[in-house]
Amino acid sequence: MTDTATRPDTLPALDSLAATLTEARERTLAIVQRVSDEDLALQHDPLMSPIVWDLGHIAHFEELWLTRNLDGPIEFVEMPGLFNPFENPRRVRGSLPLPNREGALALMAEVRERVLDRLESLDVGSDDPLRHDGYVVRMVAQHEYQHDETILQTLQLKTGEPYRAPRVEVDASLTGAPIAVDDRAMVRFPGGVVDVGTSDRGAAYDNERPRHLVALAPFSIDVAPVTNRAYLEFVRDGGYTRRELWSDAGWAWREQEKLIAPKGWRPDGDGYTERFFDRVRALDPSRPVCHVCYWEADAYARWAGKRLPTEAEWETAASWDHRTGRKLAYPWGDGAPTLAHANIDQLRFDTAPIGTYPRNVSPLGCYGMIGDVWEWTSTDFHGYPGYESFPYKEYSEVFFGPEYKVLRGGSFATRAGAIRNTFRNWDYPIRRQIFSGFRCARDD
Ligand SMILES: [Fe+2]
Repeated sequence: MTDTATRPDTLPALDSLAATLTEARERTLAIVQRVSDEDLALQHDPLMSPIVWDLGHIAHFEELWLTRNLDGPIEFVEMPGLFNPFENPRRVRGSLPLPNREGALALMAEVRERVLDRLESLDVGSDDPLRHDGYVVRMVAQHEYQHDETILQTLQLKTGEPYRAPRVEVDASLTGAPIAVDDRAMVRFPGGVVDVGTSDRGAAYDNERPRHLVALAPFSIDVAPVTNRAYLEFVRDGGYTRRELWSDAGWAWREQEKLIAPKGWRPDGDGYTERFFDRVRALDPSRPVCHVCYWEADAYARWAGKRLPTEAEWETAASWDHRTGRKLAYPWGDGAPTLAHANIDQLRFDTAPIGTYPRNVSPLGCYGMIGDVWEWTSTDFHGYPGYESFPYKEYSEVFFGPEYKVLRGGSFATRAGAIRNTFRNWDYPIRRQIFSGFRCARDD
């Protein structure tokens, strides 16, 4: 029996708000359908929630925003319960009296039924920015998309029987024939004043707003994410044992955790294997390195005589179109991603060799900025000048500060509706459970 899924090879048309929610739910259910009851209930890692908690939290969040807050606003933190992330931080979620699979799915279905009823009378013409054009519905769908990726991180981390990933092979008739991309090449941005962020109110989160101007000095940036080939050179050149390549905090973490290679690499003969869910293969030199933390990315960049890009540089490399003097929503243009564009949306459940998606190139000439692996930047997570929290400060604002680094671009596990050039993700610099890689930059 083959283990590939029977999903269609195009993305579904999200022609109504209800269809958007329905499609988001179908994906969540398709992911957990292949997970045993035991694996759903277990806290597999202190970093991650038991998967049933994610399911209950998806329902809790939806109930808060698409029922209660449509009928008279209450504060995010005011909605108490098992599934409030601030009341119950990750480390305690394994000992909560959580429902079983049936209980979690019933809760999700019960909330959804009330939400679909309520949507029929939602005033999308309202001046209220939450309701206007159905923003709040897209926000709730994006939240579910993001938790799907979190669940997949858990399934990648877990020990025991590996997750049987419902892989969909996307062939070259859709993407175009793969092209050769030189992973040593860089492209140059001549410097100048650029637009960063967006003022979009249709889908963007508060932390992506407002669009503002930033002056950039000339820089060069890698044409592709750092590949396994290049990263292996760093490893073989003593990258993990050379103190001078690491920051103080990075070195302390390397020593404490005894890091010797990316998470997921296993020594095998004189090389390594790499694992994505139920697929183990010899390290493929042509694919982006995955599951590295910020400190590893930073040490690699120093070894290469480069540095990590700032997020403004990253966004410029992904979006700036010198031909028209304006920025694009995606590297290839303003059209939403399809399966032909990038390795996203939980299809391959794996990275792809660089050059697999010839359309995934920005006007500056950078490949693979959307999809495959999240890319670490050197920027701390902060609000942009003029930032206003909307609709609740617990999404972004409570995380602003120097302890988090920004990641950009999404991974193969990111749903298409939860990624764009301006999308900002953030995490602690020690985190490696993310599907994370990086590319380097250099002053020019
Ligand atoms: Fe959440």
